[in-house]
Amino acid sequence: MADIERDFLGRHVDSNAKYKAPPFVPRLKNVDLGVERIKGERYFSPAFMQQEWEKVWTKTWQLVNRADVLDESGAFYTHELGKESFIFVRGNDDVIRGFYNVCRHRGNKLCQVKEGFLEAFSCPYHGWQWNIDGSLKKVADPEFFRQFDNGIPSEELGLVPVQVAQWEGLLWFNMDLEACSLKEYLGDLGEHLEGYEFEKYTLIDLQTFEWNGNWKHAWDAFNESYHFAALHPNMVEISEGHDIPIELYGVHSRMLNYNRTVSEVLEERENWTDLRRRFMLSAEMKGTSPDPDAAQSAVPEKSGKPISAKDIHLHEIEYRRSIQDETSLPYKNLNDEQLVHQYHYSFFPNTTFTQSADGGAIFRYRPHPIDPNKCFWDLFIVGCLPEGTPIPERPEHKTHRYEEGIDYVKILEGTFDPAFAEVIGEDASNMPTLQAGCQSDSFDGGILGDQEIRLRHFHKMLDEFISGTMTTQSLPSQDAYLKKID
Ligand code: FES
Ligand SMILES: [Fe+2]
Repeated sequence: MADIERDFLGRHVDSNAKYKAPPFVPRLKNVDLGVERIKGERYFSPAFMQQEWEKVWTKTWQLVNRADVLDESGAFYTHELGKESFIFVRGNDDVIRGFYNVCRHRGNKLCQVKEGFLEAFSCPYHGWQWNIDGSLKKVADPEFFRQFDNGIPSEELGLVPVQVAQWEGLLWFNMDLEACSLKEYLGDLGEHLEGYEFEKYTLIDLQTFEWNGNWKHAWDAFNESYHFAALHPNMVEISEGHDIPIELYGVHSRMLNYNRTVSEVLEERENWTDLRRRFMLSAEMKGTSPDPDAAQSAVPEKSGKPISAKDIHLHEIEYRRSIQDETSLPYKNLNDEQLVHQYHYSFFPNTTFTQSADGGAIFRYRPHPIDPNKCFWDLFIVGCLPEGTPIPERPEHKTHRYEEGIDYVKILEGTFDPAFAEVIGEDASNMPTLQAGCQSDSFDGGILGDQEIRLRHFHKMLDEFISGTMTTQSLPSQDAYLKKID
């Protein structure tokens, strides 16, 4: 247990009942999932990839984007997952529907632009058309088809639908029409996040990166904080990821990264460096000066002395609580931990929310269509902008092909802090090296510690979906892997 958690325990007065998300402190205990090694084969085997397709990707709920990317009738948005492409479209009846993006004539990709507005979908090959509700509109020259001598069987030739659902302003889909509902799937963890009021959020940026590593290396990279001390020198200056609370909820999981503190892995935790001032002092403390150095004098004091860098989160909690009734940000819905720290939630199999009180980033990991040695990593940057803030123009959503030395800071300029963009680059740097190493004859499986238990749990869930012992109709109960400490 990190010092900061001990401190929290000492002063803990929060009541679970008031908030949708129960605090992490006092800690709950995860069940013992053993110490078995995680074999390398699952990261590169085409056969394993195929099983994932059949039993996981085609059966689980997947995030598309914010539902407001489809803000008017006729607005459509295409999305790729593995070998498939999908169209999501808002109908004239205001209902959002989703379909496989495949022409029913000879299988061409029907809609070949990312997003826009249309009154009908027209295949560029021979001109067959579909209405935006998915029904067949026109077969070009039907007299050439003896099959249609007795009439075109329109009801058989509609676009093939997928299940679509919305939660908190976010659009999801499931290829399995028999899958449980999205709400049931997200379970308790979905309800926890409802306090952030995502429906009021703005999508600030969305970029996709192709990485030369299996999608599970990306999932693993972003679901433990044990690597902060070695890989992310900036992160330990401004947050605590060392020995933090982790909770496994049914098929999903969450952890708490403490923000606005200095990690106990560093010897010096009291002083204010430029980096610490920039990330840990709130806008209110820094005033309006864009110069981070100008914030030096703005470090708040307690008993006549500047508050130490490692304790600034306590001041921020007090401050945010004091303005919760005036601000348009959802502070009054959030427990003390949520007010300043990062609630890190992952929904099986591939969506992670890294959530702060006023914004966050969503990470999505997607498999490559054919190559288990590659994946796509999507970064959504979202914010709850204070009332009256002009909505910034969203940069174009690009897919950045893998290349040596790709500049994350440049790509994310203006929408993501350069220090965090560097952190992404540090995480990405491990993808090709992990992909190579897990295929070495010398590698006999990953050894996971208790701070990596979310990975152990995730791989176990994956195995259970693949073996068929788990489906969306037989999800584990929300407390199946989590116990109250006796
Ligand atoms: S393949 Fe689409 S109209 Fe022929
Ligand atoms: Fe990382």
